[in-house]
Amino acid sequence: MRLMQAEQFIFHSKKCCKFGLRFLPLAVIENALPASISNTLAVIVNTTLQKENMKNKVVVIIGSSRNDGDTKRLVTELINHSNFDTINLNDYNFSYYDYEHENSNDDYIKLTKRIIENYNTFIFATPVYWYAMSGIMKVFFDRITDLLDFEKELGRQLRTKKMAVITCSIGNNLGDNFWLPFIETSNYLGMEYIGNLHTLTDNINKTELKQFIEQINKN
Ligand SMILES: Cc1cc2nc3c(=O)[nH]c(=O)nc-3n(C[C@H](O)[C@H](O)[C@H](O)COP(=O)(O)O)c2cc1C
Repeated sequence: MRLMQAEQFIFHSKKCCKFGLRFLPLAVIENALPASISNTLAVIVNTTLQKENMKNKVVVIIGSSRNDGDTKRLVTELINHSNFDTINLNDYNFSYYDYEHENSNDDYIKLTKRIIENYNTFIFATPVYWYAMSGIMKVFFDRITDLLDFEKELGRQLRTKKMAVITCSIGNNLGDNFWLPFIETSNYLGMEYIGNLHTLTDNINKTELKQFIEQINKN
């Protein structure tokens, strides 16, 4: 009932403003305002509690063309030295971005909901394939567009999240441009980019790995 009053109040106010009638009878305001305020407060309290509960919860999102390869080995090393959770994109079924959103019922939205609701920091773990992130990781990034197209509330929640990237390859010739899609996507979405690390497949530098973990944990 109070909610209805508050909604009517807001609706009525908008209508009044539209027609230049800025003043409402005091009784209407007195009845509707407490409900409106308590609802707003409830939303703020819930969001704050949610943030507290998932403080520093970190997930490593793995995107490689094989489940038992170098990226998996790197991530195993990473979680041996941390308490990060992992999600393997190969465990989910989602297809590349569709302008018609005919794939909106595949696993992508459910997966991103799960990630956004449970974690603060996302570490993307990808092998280097042709100087870029892996194909499955790119598809995951392309599908973020869904969150701007029709899951906007979910997309807005990314503004409170942090992003980092860890890679592996056989060559040590990654230029700074490699990180650009991650950094710029993070900027575009209002996320905070907190760092990256490139590792060599046959020689993971443990000191660098531990420094990377410290960097994630202090953020
Ligand atoms: C399709 C493909 C493209 C690759 N391109 C590169 C590359 O551009 N630079 C590089 O250093 N290594 C490249 N590699 C080697 C992989 O980055 C390296 O073997 C990596 O550790 C593989 O990780 P994975 O076992 O998780 O797939 C490529 C490998 C594949 C399969």
